[in-house]
Amino acid sequence: MAEHPAYPVGLRLTGRRVVVLGGGQVAQRRLPALIAAGAKVHLVSPEATPSVEAMADTGEITWSRRRYEDGDLAEAWYALIATSDAAANVAASAEAERLRVWCVRSDDADAATAWTPATGHSEGVTVAVLTTNAKGRDPRHTAAIRDAVVEGLRDGTLVAPHHRVRTPGVALVGGGPGDPDLITVRGRRLLAEADVVIADRLGPRDLLAELPPHVEVIDAAKIPYGRFMAQEAINNALIEHARQGKSVVRLKGGDPFVFGRGMEEAQALAEVGIPCTVVPGISSSISVPGAAGIPVTHRGVAHEFTVVSGHVAPDDERSLVDWPALAKLRGTLVILMGVDKIGKIADTLVAHGKPAGTPVALVQEGTTAAQRRVDATLATVAETVRAQDVKPPAVIVIGAVVDVGPQTFE
Ligand SMILES: C[S@@+](CC[C@H](N)C(=O)[O-])C[C@H]1O[C@@H](n2cnc3c(N)ncnc32)[C@H](O)[C@@H]1O
Repeated sequence: MAEHPAYPVGLRLTGRRVVVLGGGQVAQRRLPALIAAGAKVHLVSPEATPSVEAMADTGEITWSRRRYEDGDLAEAWYALIATSDAAANVAASAEAERLRVWCVRSDDADAATAWTPATGHSEGVTVAVLTTNAKGRDPRHTAAIRDAVVEGLRDGTLVAPHHRVRTPGVALVGGGPGDPDLITVRGRRLLAEADVVIADRLGPRDLLAELPPHVEVIDAAKIPYGRFMAQEAINNALIEHARQGKSVVRLKGGDPFVFGRGMEEAQALAEVGIPCTVVPGISSSISVPGAAGIPVTHRGVAHEFTVVSGHVAPDDERSLVDWPALAKLRGTLVILMGVDKIGKIADTLVAHGKPAGTPVALVQEGTTAAQRRVDATLATVAETVRAQDVKPPAVIVIGAVVDVGPQTFE
């Protein structure tokens, strides 16, 4: 008999009974997707893996703790046959055939009436890959194709321009600390879809070079602002481009809401009714110390970390930071935008009780090829910054965590 190709279809299982026979590894792998599809899953198996047991304990599935018996597939719409008992699998398969229940067999794809594709998801699309017929079945190959398609869609290297639902308005994308691999999958995809990108100096600037030529890239620092404040001019540029119906990405360093003025931009867009999507990013406050081998917390060393802006000096009346209180904390202090003021900051911390020998590390241009770490103490940091010519952008870490790890970290 000629072998015809399988007919692909998506089953809508919400509220429908699905019977799973066998509670081993196969069930463990398949159950989450059945549960996610809303199926009423009933497991028949004398035992189950701890993960499958947990699904029964939490009520995600129901469970008959016994072997398969004829009649178990009654009322089922779909069945997964995956017991370790070959005879039971054959008998259950026969019952499925008799009752016209589509069934998957883990032990014998040839005897099954349905196959499970390799599946993956990307922003509202399910990618499902099946081999055409039983002879060509190669699960690793189908999984590899699935991975290639899903990864490509996620990172924007596979573009489906005709059917893509573009995110309307403006996306405030946290680009991470600088290494182009440290942007989120969603951020990268939105970047690949953008018509206009308004970018800060910090963040993954290498990604901008990869954008197709039709994408307009605007350096946020160079937007002329005339009678406006610089931030207002950026807000106006976002609004203006979005009003032209363009997909606009506002690419920021780190996370948009950590000293990133992200909420000001979101508010400006909301005021004029432009939709705004916020994509979190990996903040330099954690990742840059980490890249230099410094954990911001460490068991037995620091149970807290505090992220502080050092852009105004402690004695500046505009400062909102309670430096005397910070001096009393036992955990880690992480200071952003603090290179210029580190001398005054260190003096203030020491004056309010922090030991002068507290270790300090400055990590300049973290996660980029130019990353550099300079170590000091509160007593020596001002002089070290001068002598070593430490320049922004740098993250300053103060506390015992500075000394817990190796100095370089791959
Ligand atoms: C305006 S703040 C923006 C912070 C950003 N939103 C974040 O979450 O990382 C800029 C400061 O972040 C720090 N910074 C950002 N990226 C950095 C990097 N790659 N290396 C060192 N410091 C960085 C520096 O302290 C810099 O002055």
